[in-house]
This record gives sequence, C-alpha cells and structure tokens, in this order.
Amino acid sequence: DGQRRLVAVSNRVGPLNDEGKAGGLAVGLSDALKRRGGLWFGWSGDTSEQGTFSEAQTEVQDSVSMTTIDMNQEELEGFYFGYANRSLWPLLHYRLDLAQFDRQSERVYRSVNQRFAARLAPLLDDDDIVWVHDYHFFFLGSELRQCGFEGRIGFFLHIPFCPPEIFTALPASHDIVRAMLAYDLVGFQTDTDRRNFLAFCIRELGGQKLSDNRIRVGDRVVTARVFPIGIDAPGYERFAVSPEAGEHEEMLRDIAGERLQIVGVDRMDYSKGLVERFRGFERLLEDYPENRGNVQFLQVAPLSRSELGAYVELRRELEELAGHINGRFATLDWTPIQIMTRGFTRRALAGIYRAARVCLVTPLRDGMNLVAKEFVAAQDPDDPGVLVLSRFAGARAELPDALIVNPYSTDDVASALQRALTMPFDERKRRWEGMREAVFAGTSEIWCDTFIEALENADASLPEDA
Ligand code: G6P
Repeated sequence: DGQRRLVAVSNRVGPLNDEGKAGGLAVGLSDALKRRGGLWFGWSGDTSEQGTFSEAQTEVQDSVSMTTIDMNQEELEGFYFGYANRSLWPLLHYRLDLAQFDRQSERVYRSVNQRFAARLAPLLDDDDIVWVHDYHFFFLGSELRQCGFEGRIGFFLHIPFCPPEIFTALPASHDIVRAMLAYDLVGFQTDTDRRNFLAFCIRELGGQKLSDNRIRVGDRVVTARVFPIGIDAPGYERFAVSPEAGEHEEMLRDIAGERLQIVGVDRMDYSKGLVERFRGFERLLEDYPENRGNVQFLQVAPLSRSELGAYVELRRELEELAGHINGRFATLDWTPIQIMTRGFTRRALAGIYRAARVCLVTPLRDGMNLVAKEFVAAQDPDDPGVLVLSRFAGARAELPDALIVNPYSTDDVASALQRALTMPFDERKRRWEGMREAVFAGTSEIWCDTFIEALENADASLPEDA
C-alpha cells in the first residue's frame, strides 16, 4: 500500500506474544510492530565468541522479521552492564549518587553502537524508516550516517532525560547529545524530558530554538517532540477476561477473602521506589490500625540486571524490609506483605490487577510506566480499583484521575493508600472512567503512528537566514 517499511532497533527484541515481557519498551513496541509489520533489529540476548560479528538470526512472525546478533562477553559487560546500566540508567533517572563512569565501558558502548550500525546498514533500503529506541543506542543514528544511510532516522527515549545539571556529570555528555542531533526526530515521553534535552542543547552546545519543537545546533536542525507511549488498550481489556486471567483473578480473590488486595508490579529496580513503597505500607498499618488483618499487599518484582551491585543490594534491602513488616504485624492467620520475584504472563497479570482494589505505582522516576495503564485497562467496570500513582512517573501527565503521591513521603503514600482503600464506589468509578478514557486515547497504535508521521514530516532544513 505504498507505506514505507518500518525498521525498529532496540537492545531487546520481541517477544511479539504476551510471554515474559520485562519492560515498557517491549510492550509498547511489540504492540505497535505487530500491527504495522517491518523489521525489528537488535541483540539476541545471547553471548558468543564472535559477538557482534556472529551470524544474524532471523525469526519471522506474521509480518514482522526479528533479526538479532550476539554480543561477546566483553561487549555485554562494557555496553550493557557497564555503560548502559551502570552509567546512563542511573544518571538519566536522576541518580548521580549511583552512577559510575569508566572509560573502558564508554569505549565498548561506542564500538557496540558502531557494530550494530555496520550490521544493520546492509539490510536497509533508502526509503526505509529507521526508528532507534532507548539509551542503549544514542550513537546508532550517527553511525548509520557514517555507513552512508540517507533515509529518515528517528530516536525515541523510553526513560527520563535528566536536567543538564545532572547529565553534564557524564564525561561523554556532549558527545551523546551531539550524536542525538544526527537523528531527524528525537522523541520523549514527557515535556519535562524534552525541555531538559533542549536546555542541554542551548546551555551546553550553544543551540538556538527555531520554534517550540525545533532546535538548531551548528548546522544541524532537529525536531524534539513528546510522544507518550501507550498500550494496546482494547487488546489488554480482552486479556483481562481471558481464561488465564480469570484463573489468577479467582485464585487471588479466594485467598484474599474479605481482605482488600493491594498490588504492585515492577521490575526489581531502584528507580521504582519499592523501598519507599514498603515503608508507606508499613506506615498505613501503623497509623490506620483498622487495616491490620483487613488488607494484603502483593508485590510482584521480577529480577532484573541482577549481576549489578545496586540491584543485589536493593533485593536484599526489600526482602529484609518485607520480613521486618511481616514480623512486626503478622498474626497467625494474616501475612501483611508478600514479595515474589517470579514473572507472570501479561494475561495472568491482567487477572491479578482485576482482583486488586488498589495498585501502587510509585517510582522515584519513571519514563512512562505502562503498569499504570495496564492496571486501568484490566479493571472490571462494575468494581474498578484505585490507582495510586507517583508524581514522578511519566504516566502522571495523562492520568490526573489517579491518586497522585510524592513517593518520597511515607505519610503521603500511607494516606493515599488509606484514601484508596476507603474510597466510595462512585468516586472510584468516576476516577477510573477518566483514566480509562485516557488509556484508550493514547494507545501504542497512536504512539507509533504519530511518531512515524512526525518523522516523515520532520524538517531538517536550516532557516533562510542561516
Ligand atoms: C526499561 C528500558 C528498556 C529495557 C527494560 C528491561 O523498560 O526502557 O530498554 O529493555 O527496561 O530492562 P533490561 O535491562 O532487562 O532490558
């Protein structure tokens, strides 16, 4: 139909079905690609001696080809564990205290970006639309240009972009933002992220704003816009009434009995505010003792990046805190808090969400957070639950009908929980309807279409007087 082929690049590729998705990128992108078709290029998830020189593997599902290459041990260590997750991830989440910088991992990060570009370039036609995703591949666009690719290249950052006051601590910060200028379009989750990026361009690189969305730095003109990622809302709503969801919903309802169920579902990551959340729950039991024996909190927290010290430390701290809370409040027939590190399918999670009266999404900083949107889409219209949402999640911009909290304030989390647990049906229903409308208005489909249209129309020409 004359539509140009979409080529998406991200570190993790797939899955296209609902099994074992670990983050918002996989959810949003697979929902979008399934519909449009195209090529999805990235890392196989495996290591081999040849690494990025290994033979590419391709798996075709419906109209999507997923092509992946390996990394070797050194590439994985320097690129993924090192630069991406020890330097960029904490920094972009405003955690300068956790960020570590070393030149070896920076070198490997750059060379892995170069290698992925070199492997992708021969697969491209000039009228393909290339869409690069996330903080693993800041340099990929400029490397593709080096390989001679002249078509459109866009970039979308799934995680926050921190203020320049923080980002400048990264030794390569100027190089990274300059490399981002090689893209025709740069997309962010929220306006805060976009403004932080523009502030960096202006203050650090002498950039000049041409209009609200376009910035000029030297001889480059780049469009920077906001594209909040979403979910396949109608599809997720169907998940929530599937047999698998039903089984999980029923099991949880049976176990809870008269007790109100509180849930949290997050990768075990320090950006998710889990320690603060547990403290908030403890404060609820302390300050509103009528909840003792009458609520139960299930935290699903699949392990993530567990080779890294900060994640090992977090797991230890959370398990200790859960043990402390249970030790302090449990009775013979009641365990207040349960933490599980196993993962569930998206269908199973939909059932868990549906059984819950309250969902806690309280990150200290989060690009978007699709758990918030999935929780909303999974609710039973006759008995919708309440979303408690951090003011620091990107989703907050679209979900003002959630109970918005400051996750750093233990009292705030506790009192929002209390309010959620005691909320009258009419208010619950009204808030949920507002959120449902927002989740259906901002689906993954709209995210994808809007981004691609903006990429096709991005104007990279210099102004007349240049
Ligand atoms: C976040 C990132 C993704 C990443 C996911 C899971 O959602 O934005 O790029 O894939 O976390 O993390 P992992 O390190 O397991 O890929």
